[in-house]
Amino acid sequence: MPSTTLSRPSHFSTAQTSCDPSVSGATVSGTRGAEAAGGAPALVSLQGVTKHYKAGVQGLVNVSLDIPKGGFLWITGPSGSGKTTLLKLLYGAERSTQGVVMVQQQDVGKLKGDRLSHFRRQLGIVFQDYKLIPNRTVAENIAFVLWAQGVAPEEVQRRLAPTLRLVGLSHKADAFPHHLSGGEQQRVSIARAIVATPPLLIADEPTGNLDPDNARQVMRILHQLNRMGVTVVTTTHNETLVKESPHPMVHIAEGQLSWLRR
Ligand SMILES: Nc1ncnc2c1ncn2[C@@H]1O[C@H](COP(=O)(O)OP(=O)(O)OP(=O)(O)O)[C@@H](O)[C@H]1O
Ligand SMILES: [Mg+2]
Repeated sequence: MPSTTLSRPSHFSTAQTSCDPSVSGATVSGTRGAEAAGGAPALVSLQGVTKHYKAGVQGLVNVSLDIPKGGFLWITGPSGSGKTTLLKLLYGAERSTQGVVMVQQQDVGKLKGDRLSHFRRQLGIVFQDYKLIPNRTVAENIAFVLWAQGVAPEEVQRRLAPTLRLVGLSHKADAFPHHLSGGEQQRVSIARAIVATPPLLIADEPTGNLDPDNARQVMRILHQLNRMGVTVVTTTHNETLVKESPHPMVHIAEGQLSWLRR
């Protein structure tokens, strides 16, 4: 793995470097209505979405929700309420039983095979259990996404340094996952999700199992990404954290969604 200390790439060049969450609401247009400010269609739209698993288990019940491009949404709710189910419907890991899920104007429920794989590669997905490759370094774990997309080696290098910087892990580029703390591993998983500059970041409990300082650091990274134009949809159990955030928040209980803050 060549050195990661290369120049700042254009895809992050206009980013603010501040991590102050108090300014993060400035570029967000909210999550109300099917159209974002200026009449643009919602980036994410669920209309009457119900998900039943086998054996009659209810995942989601008649959920309708629109998130505009550039929006930020917290999804809260007790364990087993349907949060991960909602996220899985967004990236096509599950299909709705009823209703329509549109992401970037694509009917996700209708995507299959190569089209679904291609669609997923355009999204940034942060999994609750990190899913890092154990025998690869931090830099390699992050670069892997780009290699898989056939991005040229010099472009991979160009993107690595600012991505590592953004998540505060420049000094850990050559470390292996088992030498990192939980918070650091979580930040690697965020870096991997954003290195291909996705328009939408879907993060499932990115602050789960983290101590308050690490959780707050992850929240600042999410806010900063949002200020850079990334639409963020994230679940959390951490109520203290979401209270510190200015962004809209929904609650899911037994598959039913309600607004806590718009
Ligand atoms: N593949 C599956 N097959 C059957 N039931 C499932 C499946 N996945 C989830 N469920 C059930 O659907 C409901 C919602 O699960 P989900 O994972 O969405 O909850 P969650 O809100 O993300 O919970 P947590 O906070 O614990 O992560 C639960 O009752 C769960 O047991
Ligand atoms: Mg979950």
